Amino acid sequence: SEYKIKPREELLSIMRGPYLQNLLGDSVTIMWRTNQPSNSMVEFYSELENRSEVIANSISALHEMKLTGLQSSTKYFYRVKSGDVVSDWYSFTTPKNISDEFSFIVYSDTQLNFLRHHEIADQIRKHQFDFILHCGDAVQRGPRNDWDTEFFNPLKEILTGKPIYCAMGNHELNSQNYYLNFSNPAMEHESFYSFKYSNCFFIFLDNPLAAYPDRKFLTDFKPGSIQYDWLKNQFSSKEAQESDWIFVISHVPSYVFGTQEAYSDCKKTLVPLFEKYQVDFSFSGHVHGYERGNVNNVNYVVTAGGGGALNKPSAVKLSNLPKFNITYNYCHLTVKNKTLAMKVYDIKGNLIDEVLLKK
Ligand SMILES: [Fe+2]
Repeated sequence: SEYKIKPREELLSIMRGPYLQNLLGDSVTIMWRTNQPSNSMVEFYSELENRSEVIANSISALHEMKLTGLQSSTKYFYRVKSGDVVSDWYSFTTPKNISDEFSFIVYSDTQLNFLRHHEIADQIRKHQFDFILHCGDAVQRGPRNDWDTEFFNPLKEILTGKPIYCAMGNHELNSQNYYLNFSNPAMEHESFYSFKYSNCFFIFLDNPLAAYPDRKFLTDFKPGSIQYDWLKNQFSSKEAQESDWIFVISHVPSYVFGTQEAYSDCKKTLVPLFEKYQVDFSFSGHVHGYERGNVNNVNYVVTAGGGGALNKPSAVKLSNLPKFNITYNYCHLTVKNKTLAMKVYDIKGNLIDEVLLKK
């Protein structure tokens, strides 16, 4: 006789998140993923007696809900619901008022080695900060649907309360998953975008083409491209002009000091703009390790140490670099008005670099 195995009905459950995107101005986007398509609902409040909810009856496995009309510098509690599945309560704090001190993390190249990413994330969690910037290569292979093992799981506890902004890396391969998993603050072209936070302006570029010029499916950034014109407009915008600090985040660095020559398309195309518009920091990934140098008053930081296998140092150093360290790392920046402090840590939490700037 044969055993008859009755297929078990898979119960609806939350597989990823909730995680925050675009906690900017008076709104936030909350995302989560369920194992099967379902509806979406978020309940939230800043004062318990005044609860609100937003509901979307459209059916999806990747949920994206925007809360608007939030008060600044205020702690909100929220939970998400799909069908009859309800998450725990989590909280986030809306952007601080201008002139209040705030902090953020910059790191990159988490990809593949998720055990290292877990360790880096555990170090990051020990700090005070308001959001995370990631310079790309979030995962090893963007078109693969599992972004959880390498990327979202290590960040699970952090992203319920702090948003992350990711640049497009070459390993994302311009795949649809990048566009689905992130809800970037852009209207037309989600892989290059900008936002203002307090007295700072952040510009995210999509430049893996600089490292792989043959891959025509990558987004162009050279003169004549949509991105290049957009970038010039960003730099000359009122928001940029009125900011005390300007940061550009891109996957491929414009300068690589310790290990190899610069990527020539970045150096030719981007560096003149960075210098003309007085960019304070160009943060990048791609060359796994940590490097910092200053050229014509622009600080170039490569913080590609989130988990991806580290580079081998080349035999010859190309310049007398202030800082060069092939190790897993992340940067923690604190801004208060015209003062900026950056501290860089390795995977054990040891301080490996420090910068203090005043304007
Ligand atoms: Fe990488």
